[in-house]
Amino acid sequence: MRVIVESGPNEVAQTAAQFVARLVRRRPTCVLGLATGSTPLGLYAELVRLHRDEGLDFSRVVTFNLDEYVGLGPNDPQSYRYFMNENLFHHINIDPRNTHVPDGRALDFESHCEQYERLIQEEGGIDLQVLGIGSDGHIAFNEPGSSLGSRTRLKTLTSETVQDNARFFARLEDVPRLAITMGVGTILESRQCLVLACGQSKAQAIRATVEGPVTAQVTASALQFHRSAIAVLDESAASLLERREYYREVEESQRRLEQGPHA
Ligand code: GLP
Repeated sequence: MRVIVESGPNEVAQTAAQFVARLVRRRPTCVLGLATGSTPLGLYAELVRLHRDEGLDFSRVVTFNLDEYVGLGPNDPQSYRYFMNENLFHHINIDPRNTHVPDGRALDFESHCEQYERLIQEEGGIDLQVLGIGSDGHIAFNEPGSSLGSRTRLKTLTSETVQDNARFFARLEDVPRLAITMGVGTILESRQCLVLACGQSKAQAIRATVEGPVTAQVTASALQFHRSAIAVLDESAASLLERREYYREVEESQRRLEQGPHA
């Protein structure tokens, strides 16, 4: 896994936005996998700015979100569809028909999940999947113990995740206990994965993800099997990594290579 350590959350957002913007410029019809949570907010704000100030064009981009709470509709301010509309989609020139978020109020969840997987395939697969990480090391809502081969399905949230996400709800009892989530297997099929993490509360999960053994107990660790996974971290989230110095050297060599042989 490539590890990029930035000084703070703003720099993480800038670097992540550069990865996304480069892809959108190179491939205007690309398929983006998107995440919710507080971590990608800076990335979305920067994409909105790039659209406004530099004309970054999303008109033919297709998106798939990782997950959605069961029971919440698109107009519910706590739903992930609402979050995406408010923080990104309504501020860029994306075609709403090209934005996909699982339907938390689907009548038949099994067929809805199968259809979501099929739609991803029909669009040619995800080019770049943006990911945050739960404090227990989950990606999307693939809680500890999730199969590393799992596909889009319903998942019961752990009490730790319910507690972590309670800050967005009026009362703890309002946090849904079930979610639809892409599986670990679905995520691993993306051509590139970009994991973002900021703050001390993610340091343990990042250490387990990057340097721990691959285990279903930390579903993000499955990214070690991915041929193109990049972690963009701030200093606090990277603080427990043992091989930080090496990751810095790798990035330094990479920069020198990009500058050409005589730099
Ligand atoms: C939820 C989401 C994840 C997200 C995680 C961390 O569990 N399903 O996709 O990565 O929260 O959220 P935050 O970025 O707010 O810490």
